[in-house]
Amino acid sequence: ESQGEKAARPPVVTIMGHVDHGKTSLLDYIRRTKVATGEAGGITQHIGAYHVETDKGVISFLDTPGHAAFSSMRARGAKLTDIVVLVVAADDGVKPQTIEAVKHAKAAGVPLIVAVNKMDKSGADPMKVKNELLEQEVVAEEFGGDTQFVELSAKTGQNIDGLLDAISLQAEVLELQAVIDGRATGVVIESSLDKGRGPVATVLVQQGQLRKGDYLVCGVQYGRVRALFDEAGKQVDSAGPSIPVQVLGLSGVPDAGDDFVVVEDERLAKDVAQQRDTKRRDSRLVAQAG
Ligand code: GTP
Ligand code: NA
Ligand code: MG
Repeated sequence: ESQGEKAARPPVVTIMGHVDHGKTSLLDYIRRTKVATGEAGGITQHIGAYHVETDKGVISFLDTPGHAAFSSMRARGAKLTDIVVLVVAADDGVKPQTIEAVKHAKAAGVPLIVAVNKMDKSGADPMKVKNELLEQEVVAEEFGGDTQFVELSAKTGQNIDGLLDAISLQAEVLELQAVIDGRATGVVIESSLDKGRGPVATVLVQQGQLRKGDYLVCGVQYGRVRALFDEAGKQVDSAGPSIPVQVLGLSGVPDAGDDFVVVEDERLAKDVAQQRDTKRRDSRLVAQAG
């Protein structure tokens, strides 16, 4: 439905890597130091994604378990992530889940940036990481390849800015674009039922502008956007491409991975949601029968 001109959009980044190599620490460090938390006294709440503003532009991070997000994304044929940051602990090297993440990224055609983490530790050996990844056909620039390796520490914050620069550089190469105006479309990243606020969905806008007051079909749910919140818990009036935002006002709780689309009015929203619901039930019945 969105028909406007295309323009550059921020990259959407997913962090992957072996257990305990520092994925959460890295996301937390960037969130803590780079996300503007709005006016003092505002309650910072955890939502499944956030965006940061760097001097080279905006970057959005998906804060979901990388492998699960990738699998469901691939199953639905939806491309949610533009860039994978592969975290490898410099004192531990390439491990089974590192290799699995490389395979996921390659299969999805998503470029990798390697974050060689834990450089503050005495056993750190970044050259070993480079050599081990070479065996997985992830070739560092210094070996003549095109994969950026960034040596950093999620504990001390050493060279986190270098990682953000590497992401911006990779994003430039990808020439990411989206329709900036018009009705929004996107994907649900996570959802829940809140006692006081009702169904809450964190969505990633992919095209257009999602606005307060919009009528929405979201999976098999529908509703009118009653309020939008950014990752700092601050109310916003709208969100554009690649920006994650929390949505209140849905009739029920959608599933993570569901797409959403803004439609003209409430009646259409309800009709489309019901059609989708019927279709989903039918296909379940077919699956059960088969
Ligand atoms: P899972 O989600 O369980 O797979 O782990 P993860 O990849 O999210 O790792 P997490 O961030 O939980 O870090 C695992 C451990 O490594 C924690 O004890 C962190 O404090 C520590 N850690 C993470 N990054 C660094 C780092 O750069 N340096 C040091 N010294 N420790 C780190
Ligand atoms: Na951990
Ligand atoms: Mg973690």
